Amino acid sequence: MDIISQFPILKQQVHGKQLVYLDSAATSLKPLSVVEAERAYELEYSANVHRGVHALSERATKAYEGTRDQLKDWLNANSRKEIIFTSGTTEGFNLVAYSWGRKFLKAGDEIWISSLEHHSNIVPWQILCEEIGCVLKVISLNHQGEIPFGKQAKLLAFSYASNAIGQMNPTEDWIKQAKAAGVITLLDAAQAAPHVRLDVQKLDADFVVFSAHKAYGPTGVGMLYGKEQILDSINPYQAGGDMIEQVTFEKTTYAPLPAKLEAGTPNIAGVIGLGAAINWLREIDLEKVAAHESKLAKLIRQEFKKIPGISLVLEDDATPMMPVVSWTMKGAHPHDIASILDREGIAVRAGHLCAQPLLKLLGLTALTRASLAAYNTEQDVEALISSIGRVKQVLRC
Ligand code: ALA
Repeated sequence: MDIISQFPILKQQVHGKQLVYLDSAATSLKPLSVVEAERAYELEYSANVHRGVHALSERATKAYEGTRDQLKDWLNANSRKEIIFTSGTTEGFNLVAYSWGRKFLKAGDEIWISSLEHHSNIVPWQILCEEIGCVLKVISLNHQGEIPFGKQAKLLAFSYASNAIGQMNPTEDWIKQAKAAGVITLLDAAQAAPHVRLDVQKLDADFVVFSAHKAYGPTGVGMLYGKEQILDSINPYQAGGDMIEQVTFEKTTYAPLPAKLEAGTPNIAGVIGLGAAINWLREIDLEKVAAHESKLAKLIRQEFKKIPGISLVLEDDATPMMPVVSWTMKGAHPHDIASILDREGIAVRAGHLCAQPLLKLLGLTALTRASLAAYNTEQDVEALISSIGRVKQVLRC
């Protein structure tokens, strides 16, 4: 089946117009195989995992743990114990902040982030800094060369690419620099996971986080990869069922990895859906798809450059970036642009995009963003370009 046919959601009209979905950086659409995997769990074997000895529970456990094996292979992790299921990228950051950060950081220690970060890679650190007196340091925008790590630098947490503007950080170089300085690394791969196959051993990051829902999987589920030795050394993030070895009223001992970091009944259907999404990513030619997405993004940029009043946030095709086009338009508020595009059947995102500090550095308070995925076509690009005429007409700009 061709890629588009696997997304029946696209066969619909919105406000009487053919839907054009250009908001995949917020959440991607889900292929049939993902929806069917979740549906099969709910309809055929909707039992709890790790707990029952009955057939349904065993089947659910096999499928749930099967996703862990798939992720281990997909990411080339050393061990399945290094894959921890979370509710998404945000929980991944919080888990590292509270389990690793609370244990290993002290007053005066430095946490480094980049200027491109989403709020979820800023706020947990600010809370931690308030709590224990560590210091948040920010690598300047477009920084090149050595990161000025001081002796107190302990963690470098940064995104592979900005959700708001698509710009990529020099991931491999920064991880190498951090290693050389004895700094632990946490890579936010939320925007990379649908476009790039990550090899965690090659990257050598200590932690990697991403969400399933931006990579063709379900919402409410994600993954934290952590090196086994580090995950072994940290305390549980949450406490409850399934993460224990033995509990008495006096004392509790914890289960070995990965259970230690997965308290309570997890999002079983979501994890199974994530497994189907990983299968789907395996089946498509990810490199070819990524080249197609980049070509479409480049086409949008080329056409936008010809339209008076449009300013692209990243103009230069040479800037390493994800298939994301962010722009502003003279005399038009981004929310108005997005609303008018919506009336044309085109879904884009507008606002601060959970990256207020980055937008401030760019001299902006809001922007409009079109983001692409495997199912987008040249017709989608044409629809966007021709609808900009409608935006100009309505807003008289
Ligand atoms: N972080 C998501 C976005 O960039 C929601 O739209």
